[in-house]
Amino acid sequence: MADVVVVGSANVDQVFRVDRIPEPGETVLSTGFSTARGGKGQNQAVAAARAGASTAFIAAIGDDGFGRLTAEGLTEDRIDSSRVRTVDAATGTALIAVDPRGENTIIVEAGANARLAPLDAGDRESIAEASVLLLQLEIPLDTVVEAAAAARAGGTTAVLNAAPIADLPVALLADLDVLIVNEHEAAHLRASTGATELTSLVETVVVTLGADGAELHRRERDVVRVPAPRVTAVDATGAGDTFCGAFAAALAGGAEVDDALGFAVAAASLSVQRHGAVPSIPRRAEIDAALAR
Ligand code: RIB
Repeated sequence: MADVVVVGSANVDQVFRVDRIPEPGETVLSTGFSTARGGKGQNQAVAAARAGASTAFIAAIGDDGFGRLTAEGLTEDRIDSSRVRTVDAATGTALIAVDPRGENTIIVEAGANARLAPLDAGDRESIAEASVLLLQLEIPLDTVVEAAAAARAGGTTAVLNAAPIADLPVALLADLDVLIVNEHEAAHLRASTGATELTSLVETVVVTLGADGAELHRRERDVVRVPAPRVTAVDATGAGDTFCGAFAAALAGGAEVDDALGFAVAAASLSVQRHGAVPSIPRRAEIDAALAR
């Protein structure tokens, strides 16, 4: 039984460092290249595990080199991958360009992630037994809906990071306890649902603000803002995922939601100071040390 169950994507990222992100029709030369584990689901599972939560991952990979890289990495991070299935499709891949300010553009080829459907009885049981379920939107939306319903039925706290943004069914929003969005995703959801306040749809809404930290919005409560420490960012890839995984781990460990927010901001601030998605995700001791400063 895991504290945190993540249902989501696993990619292998092909990361190109560039002096600037190319315009349409333009070719630029890379100044550096690396391949590393990524995918919003995997990043968030790794962040939760490294933050100290026992973590299980429900995902789909291919029977290929990237799939084996992913499986080995999950084992190294001590993540329960017994519900990761190997399907007849290539492991998901992302093409990422990162500029000198640490900003990125990302193209994702879903591959095996698109085959993560439907959930089975064992998946639903492990969701129901967990403290926190953590979801994103790089897998079929029906699977996200199904997982959130299993959390609701089992009394598990359901957290959705609505990235990459999509229109969300009302039934899914009704099954969530916490919604994590950036400002663009928040604006999209307000427009697509017609809600002026997202807290009318989900009781607790966390808005991440990049270098400015994060805000906590709760029904009939004052907004809580947690600033981020000033750091030199080299790569924002996976920072949002680090935030979500650390937040879920803190919640599963019994933290109050505003304390979990502070922990998550500290974790994300560490990740932006290093390159890559999974390689940049900090461990519990580093996060505690950053908080102590
Ligand atoms: O959030 C960052 C992630 O988005 C990358 O690791 C990439 O794989 C895409 O899923």
